Amino acid sequence: MAQLWGGRFTKETDKLVYNFNASISFDQKFFRQDIEGSMAHVKMLAKQSILSENEKNQILLGLESILIDVENGKLTITDEYEDIHSFVEANLIDRVGDVGKKLHTGRSRNDQVALDMKLYTRHEIIEIKGLLKNLLDSILKIMEQNIDTYMPGFTHLQKAQPITLAHHMGAYFEMFKRDRQRLEDIYNRMNYCPLGSGALAGTTYPLDRDYTAQLLDFNGPTLNSMDSVADRDYIIELLSALSTIMMHLSRFSEEIILWNSNEYHFVEIDDAYSTGSSIMPQKKNPDIAELVRGKTGRVYGALMSILTTMKGIPLAYNKDMQEDKELTFDAIDTVKGCVTLFTGMLSTLKFNKDIMKTSAMKGFTNATDAADYLVNHGVPFRDAHGIIGKLVLYCIEKDKALDELSLDELKSINPVFEQDIFEAISLETCVNKRITIGAPGPDAMKEVIQIYKEYLHF
Ligand code: ARG
Repeated sequence: MAQLWGGRFTKETDKLVYNFNASISFDQKFFRQDIEGSMAHVKMLAKQSILSENEKNQILLGLESILIDVENGKLTITDEYEDIHSFVEANLIDRVGDVGKKLHTGRSRNDQVALDMKLYTRHEIIEIKGLLKNLLDSILKIMEQNIDTYMPGFTHLQKAQPITLAHHMGAYFEMFKRDRQRLEDIYNRMNYCPLGSGALAGTTYPLDRDYTAQLLDFNGPTLNSMDSVADRDYIIELLSALSTIMMHLSRFSEEIILWNSNEYHFVEIDDAYSTGSSIMPQKKNPDIAELVRGKTGRVYGALMSILTTMKGIPLAYNKDMQEDKELTFDAIDTVKGCVTLFTGMLSTLKFNKDIMKTSAMKGFTNATDAADYLVNHGVPFRDAHGIIGKLVLYCIEKDKALDELSLDELKSINPVFEQDIFEAISLETCVNKRITIGAPGPDAMKEVIQIYKEYLHF
């Protein structure tokens, strides 16, 4: 049991207490960031003449060697230490002797852990942004190839109006684009350095907090030492953004599961991304999409958990906050896994374009356009709505689509119909006439695709 404290204690910590309190099993995840933060701290201490140049160099060499040895597996992080901070400090003292004991000058584990967690999440935000970019790239590719791929658009899961696959994919492009922007916002808001805040009240050493912040690539130091050690807002914001990413992935998964069903048959999931059944030989299951949908709950759970943990904590640091780590790490790893797998599944998905088109032609997705035709010929919209409603009923009886009726049949319901109705309600016209920005018409779509390309290559 290696601890950084004990002077004022007369008894050993109970083993169960020690284990309950220890965080090494999970905070070893940011050993790199812990060492990186210590290096910046030591450089600043030397700049302020709190450590000599020689002491600084010895400590830096020691820290560097620990980093290398952990990375190449020569040094293992074991649970004989309470946390990653104790592990690094104890190993430093082992390697460089008494000078290593000066590392913690003007620092507390409270501002240290606040820094480590910020450095770690900041790095992961960049990683996740990169993975989202890959996802957006593959969505954009599908869009570019499917400007003319017709499919039904749904409301209430009922066929509503015809759209294109490019248009449908574009909706997800917007969602994941916002997700990336959210991550950028969080990064900018959190990017202030808490180191130098001490346990809660700063220190009496003449630290140069601007310099430390600069060394670690922060926008500046945090401005209140109590808040610095007690703030976990950025974790809550991050988990909220991750939950939103999962919500989007889950909706997309749900659609792929539906589209992959025997009934829809809009898509075919690649063999590499589906699984079989142990009993039913015919099955090819969309397990990846289902797992992504399922894991969404787990990420929401992390958000709820940290919100609840934080709600009753008085200022400043309290040990409750150690609970931020496991759930944040798990949520980050879950999201990274899901985005990666989902991108692979999406980019290998096969679209059954003919089936999608046929589906768009059935189900009266052109009924609104038929009503608009009547409006263009002087019929008030409410009347037109009623006339087309009757037509639909007639078609259901005859098991026909609107454009499969003869002109005579149409005229028997309303004399306003002329030969040009067929052109007006063809699938192509229904889509191509929707030309305002944001609509599925090909010109509008091309314009949007161009904007997306610039966004991704910026
Ligand atoms: N393991 C602790 C955490 O994750 C580090 C800070 C410890 N500070 C303290 N006063 N015990 O929050």
